[in-house]
Amino acid sequence: MADQYAQTGEDSKSTELPAIRWEEPPEGPVLVLLDQTRLPAEEVELVCTDASALVEAIRSLAVRGAPLLGIAGAYGVALAAARGFDVDEAAAVLAGARPTAVNLAVGVRRAEAAYRAELGKSGDQELAAGAALAAARGLHREDAAASAAMAERGLALLDELLPGGGHRILTHCNTGSLVSGGEGTAFAVALAAHRAGRLRRLWVDETRPLLQGARLTAYEAARSGMAYTLLTDNAAGSLFAAGEVDAVLIGADRIAADGSVANKVGSYPLAVLARYHHVPFIVVAPVTTVDPDTPDGASIEVEQRPGHEVTEIAAPQVPVAGTEAGSGIPVAPLGTQAYNPAFDVTPPELVTAIVTEEGVVSPVTAEALAELCARSREV
Ligand code: MRU
Repeated sequence: MADQYAQTGEDSKSTELPAIRWEEPPEGPVLVLLDQTRLPAEEVELVCTDASALVEAIRSLAVRGAPLLGIAGAYGVALAAARGFDVDEAAAVLAGARPTAVNLAVGVRRAEAAYRAELGKSGDQELAAGAALAAARGLHREDAAASAAMAERGLALLDELLPGGGHRILTHCNTGSLVSGGEGTAFAVALAAHRAGRLRRLWVDETRPLLQGARLTAYEAARSGMAYTLLTDNAAGSLFAAGEVDAVLIGADRIAADGSVANKVGSYPLAVLARYHHVPFIVVAPVTTVDPDTPDGASIEVEQRPGHEVTEIAAPQVPVAGTEAGSGIPVAPLGTQAYNPAFDVTPPELVTAIVTEEGVVSPVTAEALAELCARSREV
């Protein structure tokens, strides 16, 4: 069945997309983002000169995905500091721009702490701004290294769980170089399998309502030259039933201390399907996504997005000012209410393994996760 639906990228193009970069033109430092709301139609850059522009980019999902949100948050603090804005205020608004991905607040706090420490030591605003920037750059580099380590560990795990090779992987949302300083989380594992000649197919969930799978993962898959096929989210059940999925690989926005995983809405149903069909359900995320301060799944704040993202197609990702409506094409009667959580929570008992740069946790227990976090703090 698989090959009749095949869609293969033309060749092995680079997947390196500059999702974010810091620049210092004569007018002053700026943060340049690849506007992900415009992909795949156009590769357009967004230039942020202050934290409020970055907050807007975060809320509209121009910049998105847990690891990249952390990096963006850190650069946002550096930008505020370099341009002489109130760093406390900028850090608070950036950290609260979206609630679920813990990486955002972690990145903001890291740059803010570096700024405060330097200011306390030298009293020099310029040096303190430099320290915030160094922290952001450090996080950016570390995330690239974490991606590479997760890809290696994830591929080893796949090979162990599926010794026959020829992996057919199902993924949800977007987890590649668009969300990372490197090649991403779950997508980086699929890419490693592809490069090793062991990926038979990447099944890409379209990921309603904002289509991160169709718009972004298919875009990255095509650029990499891997064999991939796009499906509607509700086609996943029949794909499992047909025996076409060997493993599910997803990322995470927050992993609670008990191993509950918040990720893009639609992840939990995949975990239930995977369990029913005896297919491994693997979460790939950097250690910064594990939040020891969130005890369990019920404590994770799930972002609720505006209803017009569901009642309209190609809706803008922030509401039109002063209205509930966007300016997309209506697909429901005017005034229809929509349930639009951005994420859902998968309980640890449905997760086969959590792959991080520091190691693989399987089975997923609070004790094993706590040990992993303690080990990573020692490094
Ligand atoms: O709402 P988004 O597009 O920011 O959601 C992103 C996801 O859910 C990703 O799967 C998650 O951040 C993991 S990315 C490595």
